[in-house]
Amino acid sequence: MEFAIIIFSLFSYFNINNVSMKKIIIFASGGGSNFEALAEACKSGYIDGKIILLVAGKAGIGAIEKAKKFDIPVLIEQHPSPCPLPQGAREKEKKDGVQFSHFCKGRVAEGGRDLLEVLQNINPDLICLAGYLKKIPAEILKICPVMNIHPALLPKFGGKGMYGHHVHEAVIKSGAIESGATVHFVNEDYDKGAIIAQDKVPVLPEDNPQTLAACVLEREHKLYPRCVKLFCEGKMKEKELL
Ligand code: GRF
Repeated sequence: MEFAIIIFSLFSYFNINNVSMKKIIIFASGGGSNFEALAEACKSGYIDGKIILLVAGKAGIGAIEKAKKFDIPVLIEQHPSPCPLPQGAREKEKKDGVQFSHFCKGRVAEGGRDLLEVLQNINPDLICLAGYLKKIPAEILKICPVMNIHPALLPKFGGKGMYGHHVHEAVIKSGAIESGATVHFVNEDYDKGAIIAQDKVPVLPEDNPQTLAACVLEREHKLYPRCVKLFCEGKMKEKELL
């Protein structure tokens, strides 16, 4: 019931707003500072796009509170155990070849509805991952381009398990003299999609994982909106370094 209300308000939201703007969905599982940077950039008009939904990886995360501030609808993923299939899923699976069971592993939206179906109905132009830790399955990648921001200079210091403080610890331990932020397209492998842009920062002798993370995060908040802006203006070419 709660879910139905959210979706209804989402469609009302589209109808009263400029439909020519790019429709952006953000996925987040953490504090949401990148989500906030993107939301600010859309609100100010820097990005010619509208964030029409936040998909929250779990309840209680900071990004949800930030979404309220911007009046952005939120959908919280549920993690039921055992995971129920949406009604009629097996029949639809046979008809469309969509693997609902795959999505049910942590990807059922509130009310038991399938997240894939919700995203397909919205038909966004871009999905941005902003501190979202789960792997994005092929079915979602087919809907529209998906971007991610990573707090290191890929292709180094990426892949499974390379998130949060683990990344900065690895960078410092390696003795690297620079780190930075990378915006990239997402494919089915963690942190392996085409690199769009990077911004570098020096790693200072006195840096620890916390100071390095803060320094990189500051750059992330500028780099991500810049990339999304170019995408929304149709100026982005894959693999082009900004
Ligand atoms: C950022 O460092 C981002 O690069 C990584 O996850 C972190 C999310 O931080 N993917 P926040 O939730 O946006 O503050």
